[in-house]
Amino acid sequence: MIHCAAYTAVDAEEADEAGAFHVNATATRQVAAACQKIGAQLVYPSADYVFAGDADRPLQPVDPAAPLNVYGRSKRAGEHSALAADGALVVRTSWLYGRGGPNFVDTITRRARKVGHLVVVDDQIGRPTWTATLAWAMAELIEQATGIFHATGGGDPVSWYGFARRVLDVQALMASLRSVPSSMFSRPALRPAYSVLDCTQTKAAIGQPLPDWNHSLEQYLRGARV
Ligand SMILES: NC(=O)c1ccc[n+]([C@@H]2O[C@H](COP(=O)([O-])OP(=O)(O)OC[C@H]3O[C@@H](n4cnc5c(N)ncnc54)[C@H](OP(=O)(O)O)[C@@H]3O)[C@@H](O)[C@H]2O)c1
Repeated sequence: MIHCAAYTAVDAEEADEAGAFHVNATATRQVAAACQKIGAQLVYPSADYVFAGDADRPLQPVDPAAPLNVYGRSKRAGEHSALAADGALVVRTSWLYGRGGPNFVDTITRRARKVGHLVVVDDQIGRPTWTATLAWAMAELIEQATGIFHATGGGDPVSWYGFARRVLDVQALMASLRSVPSSMFSRPALRPAYSVLDCTQTKAAIGQPLPDWNHSLEQYLRGARV
Protein backbone atom coordinates (compact mmCIF):
# COMPACT_ATOMS: atom_id res chain seq x y z
CA MET A 1 0.00 0.00 0.00
CA ILE A 2 1.74 3.17 -1.16
CA HIS A 3 -0.03 5.88 0.82
CA CYS A 4 0.61 9.09 -1.16
CA ALA A 5 -2.44 11.10 -0.06
CA ALA A 6 -1.40 14.05 2.08
CA TYR A 7 -2.31 17.59 3.02
CA THR A 8 0.60 19.40 1.37
CA ALA A 9 -0.44 23.09 1.44
CA VAL A 10 2.44 24.09 3.70
CA ASP A 11 1.39 27.71 4.30
CA ALA A 12 -2.35 26.97 4.71
CA GLU A 13 -1.56 24.33 7.32
CA GLU A 14 -0.06 26.93 9.66
CA ALA A 15 -3.63 28.06 10.32
CA ASP A 16 -5.09 24.54 10.18
CA GLU A 17 -3.00 22.36 12.48
CA ALA A 18 -5.94 20.07 13.26
CA GLY A 19 -6.60 19.50 9.56
CA ALA A 20 -2.92 18.78 8.89
CA PHE A 21 -2.70 16.19 11.67
CA HIS A 22 -6.08 14.73 10.70
CA VAL A 23 -4.97 13.98 7.13
CA ASN A 24 -1.24 13.38 7.53
CA ALA A 25 -1.16 11.53 10.84
CA THR A 26 -4.58 10.25 11.97
CA ALA A 27 -5.61 9.00 8.53
CA THR A 28 -2.19 7.39 8.17
CA ARG A 29 -2.77 5.57 11.47
CA GLN A 30 -6.00 4.18 10.02
CA VAL A 31 -4.26 3.12 6.81
CA ALA A 32 -1.52 1.50 8.93
CA ALA A 33 -4.12 -0.42 10.93
CA ALA A 34 -5.77 -1.64 7.71
CA CYS A 35 -2.39 -2.74 6.33
CA GLN A 36 -1.61 -4.56 9.56
CA LYS A 37 -4.96 -6.35 9.37
CA ILE A 38 -4.49 -7.65 5.83
CA GLY A 39 -0.72 -8.17 6.02
CA ALA A 40 0.14 -5.55 3.41
CA GLN A 41 3.37 -3.57 3.55
CA LEU A 42 2.69 0.15 4.07
CA VAL A 43 4.92 2.62 2.22
CA TYR A 44 4.66 6.22 3.41
CA PRO A 45 6.30 9.05 1.44
CA SER A 46 7.61 11.63 3.88
CA ALA A 47 9.53 14.84 3.58
CA ASP A 48 12.76 16.74 4.14
CA TYR A 49 10.58 19.16 6.14
CA VAL A 50 10.79 16.86 9.18
CA PHE A 51 14.26 18.39 9.67
CA ALA A 52 15.07 21.87 11.02
CA GLY A 53 17.42 22.73 8.16
CA ASP A 54 20.35 23.79 10.34
CA ALA A 55 22.69 20.86 9.53
CA ASP A 56 26.01 21.29 7.76
CA ARG A 57 26.08 17.83 6.17
CA PRO A 58 23.50 15.66 4.39
CA LEU A 59 20.88 14.35 6.79
CA GLN A 60 20.71 10.65 7.57
CA PRO A 61 17.53 8.76 8.45
CA VAL A 62 18.72 8.45 12.07
CA ASP A 63 19.32 12.18 12.52
CA PRO A 64 16.90 13.85 14.94
CA ALA A 65 13.80 15.32 13.39
CA ALA A 66 12.91 18.88 14.43
CA PRO A 67 10.27 20.25 12.05
CA LEU A 68 9.92 24.02 11.71
CA ASN A 69 6.31 24.10 10.56
CA VAL A 70 2.94 22.39 10.96
CA TYR A 71 3.28 20.40 7.74
CA GLY A 72 6.64 18.99 8.92
CA ARG A 73 5.28 18.15 12.37
CA SER A 74 2.22 16.43 10.89
CA LYS A 75 4.38 14.41 8.48
CA ARG A 76 6.67 13.40 11.35
CA ALA A 77 3.57 12.26 13.27
CA GLY A 78 2.50 10.44 10.08
CA GLU A 79 5.84 8.63 10.03
CA HIS A 80 5.20 7.37 13.57
CA SER A 81 1.68 6.33 12.55
CA ALA A 82 3.01 4.43 9.54
CA LEU A 83 5.83 2.73 11.43
CA ALA A 84 3.30 1.23 13.85
CA ALA A 85 2.49 -1.30 11.10
CA ASP A 86 4.79 -4.32 10.85
CA GLY A 87 7.27 -3.99 7.98
CA ALA A 88 6.33 -0.39 7.16
CA LEU A 89 8.64 1.65 4.98
CA VAL A 90 8.97 5.44 5.23
CA VAL A 91 10.67 7.07 2.24
CA ARG A 92 11.61 10.70 2.77
CA THR A 93 12.08 12.79 -0.34
CA SER A 94 12.50 16.47 -1.25
CA TRP A 95 11.63 19.06 -3.89
CA LEU A 96 9.38 16.72 -5.83
CA TYR A 97 8.20 17.49 -9.36
CA GLY A 98 6.57 15.43 -12.08
CA ARG A 99 3.67 15.02 -14.46
CA GLY A 100 0.12 15.43 -13.29
CA GLY A 101 0.36 18.10 -10.61
CA PRO A 102 1.49 21.65 -9.99
CA ASN A 103 5.22 21.82 -9.33
CA PHE A 104 8.19 24.20 -9.29
CA VAL A 105 9.54 23.21 -12.73
CA ASP A 106 6.22 23.82 -14.48
CA THR A 107 5.62 27.05 -12.54
CA ILE A 108 9.04 28.48 -13.48
CA THR A 109 8.54 27.45 -17.11
CA ARG A 110 5.06 28.99 -17.29
CA ARG A 111 6.12 32.25 -15.62
CA ALA A 112 9.21 32.55 -17.81
CA ARG A 113 7.02 32.30 -20.91
CA LYS A 114 4.21 34.54 -19.67
CA VAL A 115 5.85 37.13 -17.42
CA GLY A 116 9.48 37.03 -18.56
CA HIS A 117 11.06 37.84 -15.21
CA LEU A 118 11.40 35.76 -12.06
CA VAL A 119 12.62 36.20 -8.50
CA VAL A 120 13.72 33.04 -6.65
CA VAL A 121 15.30 32.43 -3.24
CA ASP A 122 18.93 31.36 -3.11
CA ASP A 123 19.33 30.53 0.59
CA GLN A 124 17.43 27.23 0.72
CA ILE A 125 19.55 24.28 -0.41
CA GLY A 126 18.33 20.81 -1.36
CA ARG A 127 18.12 18.21 -4.08
CA PRO A 128 15.27 18.16 -6.62
CA THR A 129 13.55 14.82 -7.18
CA TRP A 130 11.68 13.71 -10.28
CA THR A 131 8.65 11.61 -9.34
CA ALA A 132 9.99 8.91 -11.68
CA THR A 133 13.14 8.71 -9.54
CA LEU A 134 11.10 8.39 -6.35
CA ALA A 135 8.77 5.79 -7.87
CA TRP A 136 11.74 3.74 -9.05
CA ALA A 137 13.51 3.96 -5.68
CA MET A 138 10.34 2.96 -3.84
CA ALA A 139 9.75 0.03 -6.17
CA GLU A 140 13.31 -1.17 -5.51
CA LEU A 141 12.98 -0.77 -1.73
CA ILE A 142 9.57 -2.39 -1.35
CA GLU A 143 9.68 -5.88 0.12
CA GLN A 144 13.39 -5.66 0.91
CA ALA A 145 13.52 -2.67 3.28
CA THR A 146 11.69 -1.54 6.38
CA GLY A 147 12.07 1.58 8.52
CA ILE A 148 13.14 5.01 7.29
CA PHE A 149 15.02 5.60 4.01
CA HIS A 150 15.90 8.73 2.05
CA ALA A 151 15.39 8.97 -1.72
CA THR A 152 16.03 12.16 -3.70
CA GLY A 153 17.65 13.00 -6.99
CA GLY A 154 21.42 12.45 -6.89
CA GLY A 155 24.18 14.92 -7.74
CA ASP A 156 25.25 18.19 -6.17
CA PRO A 157 22.83 20.09 -3.92
CA VAL A 158 21.42 23.30 -5.36
CA SER A 159 19.42 26.34 -4.27
CA TRP A 160 15.91 27.04 -5.59
CA TYR A 161 17.55 29.84 -7.60
CA GLY A 162 20.11 27.41 -9.07
CA PHE A 163 17.35 24.94 -9.86
CA ALA A 164 15.31 27.65 -11.62
CA ARG A 165 18.45 28.63 -13.59
CA ARG A 166 18.74 25.04 -14.87
CA VAL A 167 15.03 24.91 -15.75
CA LEU A 168 15.48 28.01 -17.92
CA ASP A 169 18.82 26.94 -19.43
CA VAL A 170 17.70 23.44 -20.42
CA GLN A 171 14.81 24.95 -22.35
CA ALA A 172 16.81 27.97 -23.63
CA LEU A 173 14.24 30.32 -22.09
CA MET A 174 15.47 33.91 -22.07
CA ALA A 175 13.57 35.22 -19.01
CA SER A 176 15.42 37.34 -16.47
CA LEU A 177 16.06 35.58 -13.17
CA ARG A 178 17.02 37.34 -9.93
CA SER A 179 18.11 35.69 -6.67
CA VAL A 180 16.86 36.97 -3.32
CA PRO A 181 17.09 35.84 0.33
CA SER A 182 14.04 34.13 1.88
CA SER A 183 13.65 37.16 4.17
CA MET A 184 12.36 39.03 1.10
CA PHE A 185 9.29 36.77 1.06
CA SER A 186 6.96 36.88 4.03
CA ARG A 187 5.22 33.49 4.21
CA PRO A 188 3.25 31.87 7.04
CA ALA A 189 5.42 28.73 7.29
CA LEU A 190 9.14 28.69 7.99
CA ARG A 191 11.17 26.59 5.53
CA PRO A 192 14.36 24.65 6.33
CA ALA A 193 17.46 26.37 4.92
CA TYR A 194 19.32 23.09 4.37
CA SER A 195 17.27 20.14 3.10
CA VAL A 196 19.89 17.79 1.68
CA LEU A 197 19.03 14.16 2.49
CA ASP A 198 21.77 11.53 2.67
CA CYS A 199 20.68 8.63 0.42
CA THR A 200 23.64 6.32 1.16
CA GLN A 201 21.48 3.60 2.73
CA THR A 202 19.06 3.64 -0.19
CA LYS A 203 21.93 3.41 -2.66
CA ALA A 204 23.31 0.41 -0.74
CA ALA A 205 19.91 -1.28 -0.57
CA ILE A 206 19.14 -0.93 -4.27
CA GLY A 207 22.71 -1.45 -5.46
CA GLN A 208 23.05 1.70 -7.53
CA PRO A 209 23.10 5.47 -7.09
CA LEU A 210 20.02 7.61 -7.51
CA PRO A 211 20.03 9.38 -10.91
CA ASP A 212 21.57 12.86 -10.99
CA TRP A 213 18.82 15.47 -10.69
CA ASN A 214 20.28 17.44 -13.65
CA HIS A 215 19.88 14.45 -15.94
CA SER A 216 16.38 13.73 -14.64
CA LEU A 217 15.34 17.33 -15.19
CA GLU A 218 16.45 17.11 -18.82
CA GLN A 219 14.47 13.89 -19.27
CA TYR A 220 11.37 15.43 -17.69
CA LEU A 221 11.61 18.56 -19.83
CA ARG A 222 12.10 16.44 -22.95
CA GLY A 223 8.72 14.92 -22.09
CA ALA A 224 9.91 11.48 -21.08
CA ARG A 225 6.91 9.41 -20.06
CA VAL A 226 7.92 7.10 -17.24
N1 LIG B 1 6.00 17.98 -3.21
C1 LIG B 1 7.12 17.79 -2.53
O1 LIG B 1 8.14 18.49 -2.74
C2 LIG B 1 7.22 16.69 -1.50
C3 LIG B 1 8.43 16.56 -0.80
C4 LIG B 1 8.54 15.56 0.13
C5 LIG B 1 7.50 14.69 0.37
N2 LIG B 1 6.32 14.84 -0.31
C6 LIG B 1 5.26 13.89 -0.01
O2 LIG B 1 4.91 13.20 -1.20
C7 LIG B 1 3.51 12.85 -1.17
C8 LIG B 1 2.81 13.40 -2.40
O3 LIG B 1 2.99 14.82 -2.37
P1 LIG B 1 2.61 15.75 -3.60
O4 LIG B 1 3.56 16.89 -3.59
O5 LIG B 1 2.44 14.89 -4.83
O6 LIG B 1 1.24 16.31 -3.08
P2 LIG B 1 -0.12 16.66 -3.83
O7 LIG B 1 0.14 16.98 -5.26
O8 LIG B 1 -0.78 17.67 -2.95
O9 LIG B 1 -0.90 15.28 -3.77
C9 LIG B 1 -1.49 14.86 -2.55
C10 LIG B 1 -2.67 13.99 -2.89
O10 LIG B 1 -3.36 13.71 -1.66
C11 LIG B 1 -4.74 13.84 -1.89
N3 LIG B 1 -5.42 14.22 -0.66
C12 LIG B 1 -5.24 15.34 0.06
N4 LIG B 1 -6.06 15.35 1.13
C13 LIG B 1 -6.78 14.19 1.07
C14 LIG B 1 -7.80 13.62 1.86
N5 LIG B 1 -8.24 14.23 2.96
N6 LIG B 1 -8.31 12.43 1.48
C15 LIG B 1 -7.87 11.83 0.37
N7 LIG B 1 -6.91 12.32 -0.44
C16 LIG B 1 -6.38 13.48 -0.09
C17 LIG B 1 -4.87 14.91 -2.94
O11 LIG B 1 -6.09 14.74 -3.61
P3 LIG B 1 -6.73 15.91 -4.50
O12 LIG B 1 -5.80 16.16 -5.63
O13 LIG B 1 -8.03 15.32 -4.91
O14 LIG B 1 -6.84 17.08 -3.57
C18 LIG B 1 -3.66 14.63 -3.84
O15 LIG B 1 -4.00 13.69 -4.84
C19 LIG B 1 2.97 13.43 0.13
O16 LIG B 1 3.00 12.41 1.10
C20 LIG B 1 3.97 14.51 0.49
O17 LIG B 1 3.97 14.77 1.87
C21 LIG B 1 6.16 15.83 -1.24
